Amino acid sequence: MEGMKNIMTKAKCSFIFIATFVLLSSALSLANAKTHNHEFVVEATPVKRLCKTHNTITVNGQYPGPTLEINNGDSLVIKVTNKARYNVTIHWHGVRQVRTGWADGPEFITQCPIRPGGSYTYRFTVEGQEGTLWWHAHSSWLRATVYGALIIRPREGETYPFPKPNRETPILLGEWWDRNPIDVVRQAQRTGAAPNVSDAYTINGQPGDLYNCSTKGTTIVPIRYGETNLIRVINAALNQPLFFKIANHKLTVVGADASYLKPFTTNVLMLGPGQTTDVLITANQPISRYYIAASAYQSAQNAAFDNTTTTAILQYYNSTKTKPIMPSLPSFNDTNTVTKFSKRFKSLKKVEVSNVIDENLLFTIGLGLQGCPKNFRERRCQGPNGSRLTASMNNVSFTLPNNLSILQAHYFGIPGVFTTDFPAKPPVNFNYTGNVSRPLWQPVPGTKVYKLKFGSRVQIVLQDTSIVTGENHPTHLHGYDFYIVAQGFGNFDPKKDSAKFNLVDPPKRNTVAVPVNGWSVIRFVADNPGAWIMHCHLDVHINWGLATVLLVENGVGKLQSIEPPPADLPRC
Ligand code: C2O
Repeated sequence: MEGMKNIMTKAKCSFIFIATFVLLSSALSLANAKTHNHEFVVEATPVKRLCKTHNTITVNGQYPGPTLEINNGDSLVIKVTNKARYNVTIHWHGVRQVRTGWADGPEFITQCPIRPGGSYTYRFTVEGQEGTLWWHAHSSWLRATVYGALIIRPREGETYPFPKPNRETPILLGEWWDRNPIDVVRQAQRTGAAPNVSDAYTINGQPGDLYNCSTKGTTIVPIRYGETNLIRVINAALNQPLFFKIANHKLTVVGADASYLKPFTTNVLMLGPGQTTDVLITANQPISRYYIAASAYQSAQNAAFDNTTTTAILQYYNSTKTKPIMPSLPSFNDTNTVTKFSKRFKSLKKVEVSNVIDENLLFTIGLGLQGCPKNFRERRCQGPNGSRLTASMNNVSFTLPNNLSILQAHYFGIPGVFTTDFPAKPPVNFNYTGNVSRPLWQPVPGTKVYKLKFGSRVQIVLQDTSIVTGENHPTHLHGYDFYIVAQGFGNFDPKKDSAKFNLVDPPKRNTVAVPVNGWSVIRFVADNPGAWIMHCHLDVHINWGLATVLLVENGVGKLQSIEPPPADLPRC
């Protein structure tokens, strides 16, 4: 009895000790976590590029917009004031927004837009994500110029899982139209044809030396011989996957979409719009100037694209002003290089991917053609053979609500805004990447969501179709990071392809570049309640309806439920 008591006391003591320690250390890390306050004023600002000045929509007059720098665990409070003549919302791309879906930003999904003259304060915490994310407008094509970097460093006192770099440089790849991008998309909506392609790509807002009237502004990235630089590459282009290279320098990939990767060395990157990639480069080449360059990866057949090349300059200290050395970029249709590159992505550490699946979903993604509606004139049907271009997931061409957001309708139980009959698999089985018969080319418009129970273990096979043309679709899910457990070409075959799943160290991302005429399998646990849009990050495809919404129900109790909406949530 005595002995027993003694053991009990000992156990109690060490329990109290551990509990105190845990409390103290969590209090400490809470004390360390900061709240960053920012004001974003969305306004038209004169911006001169390619010889012409445009009244460009910017944040705080900056293009690209301000870079946000935080530590893992920090909170952001960002008051957005709309002084532009368009509706606007801001999305924090890749931030999980656990229980704070009201701050996610996509218009008519989680909020109504901020009207001209209005404002809204986004409040959220970044937790368990380290690396590079970004923010952008999520309304019409405003994100063409309304975007910026969001850098998340390790918690104070913690380090990178690689040697500390001597410097860090965000590189935002963008797309520039020598026109108002909103007019470009409106014209496409009228005609039913594909929108005009961009006139330039940009690096940190500058097209660079290979365009007219552009040399003066070319972005310079300084480096000292022997230094290592952490370059945070973000593809913020509207509609174009891009190859990225730095002449004569190896790139060591260490992270993507704010998750760490097993480091690997390459000389070329490919990023779909929405994706980020963190790379280390070491200045071990002769002191000189080297071009940093990006150009299109275009996988769609017979589609126009911007085939120009944007450049910045990696400039060694003490180098003379000689002509920079140019890297040779892959050809625009080099899918082989893309496949080889993406196969090398592995999570830094072993991960727990559940082998049990509660929701086994198959979503086709692809383009389509809508026959010219009877009441439309010819000039409104300038797509292939007098049709209008469209796109869909599982044959549903997603249409945004226009009177209320899906999250508000869900939270307040307001009917008539959406339906919950998004199908778990394509309504008809067909050879997705084969020669698809014409009757399957015309999707059905709808605002359909797919409901998920809190905590369900989800697998989604994203299957490209060859309707109109196969294409690499950068597919982005809001509110989650997911594991990419496998990718391939042709039609996904559950029997054969399940054997190839990587459930040990698959990469974790928020945007997957689904191979052209191929598939990707993603897995995640639906542990974040809310209305989360999943869409192709080529904005032209969102306009055509390549999207759906996953509606994740609340679990049990407060910590598994979405927070109440903020008082200043914009009214419709
Ligand atoms: Cu980066 Cu829904 O977007």
